[in-house]
Amino acid sequence: METVVSGIRSTGNLHLGNYFGAIQNFVKMQYENNCYFFIADYHSLTTHPTPADLHSNVKQVLVEYLAAGIDPEAATVYIQSDLPEVAELYLLLNMNAYLGELERCTSFKEKIRKQTENVNAGLLTYPTLMAADIIIHRATKVPVGKDQEQHLEMTRTFANRFNRMYNVSYFPEPFAYNFGSELIKIPGLDGSTKMGKSEGEGNALFLADAPEVIRKKVMRAVSDAGPTEPNQPKPQAIENLFSLMKTLSKPETLQFFEEKYNNCEIRYGDMKKQLAEDVIEFTTPLREKILDLAKNEEYLRKVAKNGAEKAKESAVKTIKEVREIIGFKPF
Ligand code: TYM
Repeated sequence: METVVSGIRSTGNLHLGNYFGAIQNFVKMQYENNCYFFIADYHSLTTHPTPADLHSNVKQVLVEYLAAGIDPEAATVYIQSDLPEVAELYLLLNMNAYLGELERCTSFKEKIRKQTENVNAGLLTYPTLMAADIIIHRATKVPVGKDQEQHLEMTRTFANRFNRMYNVSYFPEPFAYNFGSELIKIPGLDGSTKMGKSEGEGNALFLADAPEVIRKKVMRAVSDAGPTEPNQPKPQAIENLFSLMKTLSKPETLQFFEEKYNNCEIRYGDMKKQLAEDVIEFTTPLREKILDLAKNEEYLRKVAKNGAEKAKESAVKTIKEVREIIGFKPF
């Protein structure tokens, strides 16, 4: 039995990338392991600081996790800010995190390019907060998508550095985890390699999207005039469509369109129509559960409260031990 931690920022609705990158694997392992799944609302303040949206975003993510199959009876489901111990560990880790390594982090470089008017210290120290989320439960496995690989590497650096500095073997090394050999990266519909919440209109398919919205987005996905010679490599946007089909459609559907592509007979309109229907088949049961759960405030309150209580047990224990290791003592 391993300790597993995963999280999602509360910055809007969940998309297929979140589901296949972080949730699907977690759902599979939640009955055999000691699993924590949380909503990263502290993290959301680095990019989404508006008080009026904070609670509704947290609620939406909670609803969508539960709808996607995270079972609060099996896993500990909680909200990050219900655990101030995480903020304390973040503070302590920041004392041994260096400006150079934080500045070199790819996600920081990307964020300061996109968010020039708000380059805050939270963006810079995002990886230490994420490390605190993981090692507060002394986790060893972290189901995440490919974009989080570097953050996990930094988490191992911070955990190892702590052990070395205080001459202990307290924190285990956590690894990004996926059942396959590779971490998952779901591409966008706009030809970009990553589906993401902040990638702009037409990039992402959300779990809560209505069928007509899905049809519209998929039909508008970037494609081209098709190959002119057999067995050509695929341009990125076309590769994306095939990759989505590989994730969501039946193997024989994928094979059918692969053959059409290789024979230069592909009609992207037909392919997109099929892909849209396969996405709808996949998301419809989730969407129904999302709509249902969103109405059940009392249940959501209970889940968040129980989750916070359970998560607190392990967080309080870790902080107590970390304080002792660092040398804090009561008078
Ligand atoms: P966030 O909110 O950006 O994304 C949540 C999870 O979804 C995965 N993901 C994807 N996977 C595959 N393909 C995609 N296109 C795609 N887009 C998103 C992400 O890899 C992630 O697993 N830093 C984290 C949140 C976090 C966290 C943690 C995660 C904070 N603390 C501790 C794990 C453990 C983030 O920004 O996720």
